[in-house]
Amino acid sequence: MIEMGYIKRNKGTFLQADLSYEMRFMDEDNLDEVMDLQEIVIHHLNDKEMFRTHSADYFREHLQAEKSVIGVYCQDGLIAYNVLSFPGDSKDNFGLDVNLPKDDLLDVIHLATIAVHPDFRGNSLQSKMQHIHLKMMANLGYKHVCCMVSPKNRPSLQNILSQGLIIKALKIKFQWRLRYIMHKNLLSPCLIGPDVVRMDGKDILGQINLLNRGFQGFHLSRLSDGFEIHYAKPPSLAV
Ligand SMILES: CC(C)(COP(=O)(O)OP(=O)(O)OC[C@H]1O[C@@H](n2cnc3c(N)ncnc32)[C@H](O)[C@@H]1OP(=O)(O)O)[C@@H](O)C(=O)NCCC(=O)NCCS
Repeated sequence: MIEMGYIKRNKGTFLQADLSYEMRFMDEDNLDEVMDLQEIVIHHLNDKEMFRTHSADYFREHLQAEKSVIGVYCQDGLIAYNVLSFPGDSKDNFGLDVNLPKDDLLDVIHLATIAVHPDFRGNSLQSKMQHIHLKMMANLGYKHVCCMVSPKNRPSLQNILSQGLIIKALKIKFQWRLRYIMHKNLLSPCLIGPDVVRMDGKDILGQINLLNRGFQGFHLSRLSDGFEIHYAKPPSLAV
């Protein structure tokens, strides 16, 4: 068990209810629960492109790796999971997309996939699970965390930015998915230069252009019809 507390089911609606939850590490015995929750989450998404689903073999492999998968349970069963992966020297290591030194690639972890049951959104479960996983990995000496997220996925993007990961690339991944590639050095904090450019999250080419000029996205602010990303160069490039 990692932690316990209270959460709201159907937060903000007249059906809202307080329930107790437990957060714990999952193992291979939990495979069916993860597959069932993934199915519910993809079924309820209007835009299914935002959420890359995975096979039972993929989850089995990650569940076998100790402490790689965190689950949140309440009386309804599994309501959220977060999966870490260790890309090692594979070509899918996002460290390659953000130009990490070759020697650092084995020290990269990925925030691989996350899902929260639609009835339990708004309880900050993504932030809670990812914060625990990142703290644990920093204590184990891992140096870098990377992940990819769709530019259409405002809730997830906002949560990942608030963990201190920053946008370092925006490109097509896995043949056809447009994704931000995000990175955080777990050992030294990211420094932001003084000149900030805000760009609409829908302006994909504008953001790619900024990233190509050395800007990095570090903050999201909401707009009435979407969001904008705040970009700046790291101080070393901000001349
Ligand atoms: C992304 C996700 C894990 C975030 O869930 P979460 O931890 O419950 O999100 P938060 O608690 O941070 O929610 C923050 C706010 O966004 C809202 N929100 C969360 N997810 C939302 C969604 N998919 N659509 C619209 N609003 C959403 C919440 O209701 C909350 O609003 P409030 O502040 O007014 O209460 C969840 O939306 C999800 O499972 N999405 C589908 C799978 C997915 O996209 N995974 C990530 C791939 S990178």
